[in-house]
Amino acid sequence: MSNVYQATTSAPVNIACIKYWGKRNESLILPTNSSLSVTLSQDNLRSTTTARADPSFTTDRLWLNGKEDIIKPGGRLHTCITEMKRLRAEFEAANPDQPKIASFNVHICSFNNFPTAAGLASSASGFAALVYALSRLYVLPHSPEDLSLIARRGSGSACRSLFGGFVAWDMGSDDATGSDSKARQVAPESHWPEMEALICVVNDAKKGTSSTSGMQRTVVTSALLQHRISEVVPSRMAEIERAIADKRFGDFAEITMRDSNQFHAVALDTYPPIFYMNDVSRAIIAIITEYNRLSEQPKAAYTYDAGPNAVIYALTPNVREIAQLVLYYFPQAEKVFIGGKEVEAALPEGFNEAV
Ligand code: PMV
Repeated sequence: MSNVYQATTSAPVNIACIKYWGKRNESLILPTNSSLSVTLSQDNLRSTTTARADPSFTTDRLWLNGKEDIIKPGGRLHTCITEMKRLRAEFEAANPDQPKIASFNVHICSFNNFPTAAGLASSASGFAALVYALSRLYVLPHSPEDLSLIARRGSGSACRSLFGGFVAWDMGSDDATGSDSKARQVAPESHWPEMEALICVVNDAKKGTSSTSGMQRTVVTSALLQHRISEVVPSRMAEIERAIADKRFGDFAEITMRDSNQFHAVALDTYPPIFYMNDVSRAIIAIITEYNRLSEQPKAAYTYDAGPNAVIYALTPNVREIAQLVLYYFPQAEKVFIGGKEVEAALPEGFNEAV
């Protein structure tokens, strides 16, 4: 019997608080600004990927949710797979006792257990799981930081899904090879376990303008982006890292909401403009704004990626109240549960219903 070379791993979605939007180098995927996200640890927002190398495979192939995706030469999938094979070849050269599998073709199967390409960061978990599965298949000694350099070449935000907890993607300054544009863990999940994310799926259809084409258009046409990357993001990155270190939720929330607002302002400033949020997204912003008015410090932070779905960050004691509030305005056909207990629609004390 021949040996089986196969590995399965999964990677979670991450949702940015400081948004990545714009590339300074398209092929290396080098961003115009650093970004920071929270990796979601729920089991129901993951990509699970199996990679297998076999001498009988005549070509590299990949299936996403059961449907074959073409691996275009020079494309992102191709780049990630080729880079991982190169690392395995180096590893084999340094460890002659290891089986020679770098030259085998690979078959890769990946499943997302949530809507693909609907602004729920499916490419982030997808490329992170792909790179991670190949690193396991190839038994590579590389750190998550090293692997983030390769996941970045698949989809920029994917580099952040190689870590749990609070994760920064430093834009780096090596424009020739991008060797310092990688992810870094700012704090593990255990640092602030009360931090939770409530995901409101407003629409799970595939988004209209892909992040790739949207970013290209923004970089070329938006004057606001230039202000954002030079004047706003650098200090915001430092501030949010400090807020996370000190567990100051109010500051974390304000920075997160301001950054989501500015990202969507930049999308609107793109010519022709891009709209990712819809009326429901904007209604959720109004509801959270009114909710935050009731307390001295914000207790909820909304954020939106390249789609209409809201992610609301909040601390555990407030999550049920926020879910009750959202359900009051948007009753669901199906029951919603938190911690095994059904959530009933309700308004908090003093809430102005006519938001
Ligand atoms: O990695 P991409 O190309 O899918 O871009 C993701 C961009 C945003 O999700 C909108 C922001 C971010 O930092 O994740």
